[in-house]
Amino acid sequence: MKIGVFDSGLGGLVVTKAFIDTLPEYDYVYYGDTARLPYGEKTSGQILSYSIEAVKFLISQKCGIIIIACNTATSIALRYLQQRFIPEYAPDVKVLGVVIPTVEEALQNGASKIGVVATNATIRSHIYQEELLKINPDLQIKEVATPELVPAIESNDFARAENFAKEYAKEFENVDSLILGCTHYPLLKDFFRRELPFVQIISQDELMGNKLSSYLKRHIEIDICLSRNHDYKFLVSRWNTHYQQVAAGLFPSFSIEEVSANV
Ligand code: DGL
Repeated sequence: MKIGVFDSGLGGLVVTKAFIDTLPEYDYVYYGDTARLPYGEKTSGQILSYSIEAVKFLISQKCGIIIIACNTATSIALRYLQQRFIPEYAPDVKVLGVVIPTVEEALQNGASKIGVVATNATIRSHIYQEELLKINPDLQIKEVATPELVPAIESNDFARAENFAKEYAKEFENVDSLILGCTHYPLLKDFFRRELPFVQIISQDELMGNKLSSYLKRHIEIDICLSRNHDYKFLVSRWNTHYQQVAAGLFPSFSIEEVSANV
């Protein structure tokens, strides 16, 4: 069995790189639904049905553990997938998301004021607020939707992304930690760190590798089923040369292929 990683597009490759850097010997299948990005602007019903389709596809690719790297899909679909879909469809498969590990990281240093930036759909779900308050009901939380950032990053226009990010950063001058709750935002982490030098910036590319590694250590029953041939596959629902360049920047010797995820 392989490790599957699902994102709405290519942003999740940054987290996949963290997995591969930490655990290079395993076999990975990445699936990015580039044809339907951005999920952050879709309805909850759409996000749920796309996420089910992607998970079914990764199961058909022999993935025994699937990480939903997309914060939006995690927010809207993870609970349904874990509690309803997987127990009936593929009870031996594990599906994990990015929200809980991120929340744990944000609370590690005793923060009491936490900020969250994410897509419209993630903020609308209030998943970060809900999970943070479950751990510490006294926290002060500020959630802000930052919908301009993904399109600017997708079009490689970092000057525009940073202009928007500069305005957003002003809202978080008084927090202890700021969660970058979107696959694309690790690409702006240095910018946020410069703008907010006294705030701990939580960037998923820096934490998810260790989180997966410790999960596999705690779940030997899953770990022993995972193959280890250093085999990495990168699949998308729509291919173009720009995507190929982005992927090549992170994984120079691998190409991405277009697939239909309809199984
Ligand atoms: N992958 C999405 C997330 O992490 C961002 C891009 C999108 O809106 O689809 O929330």
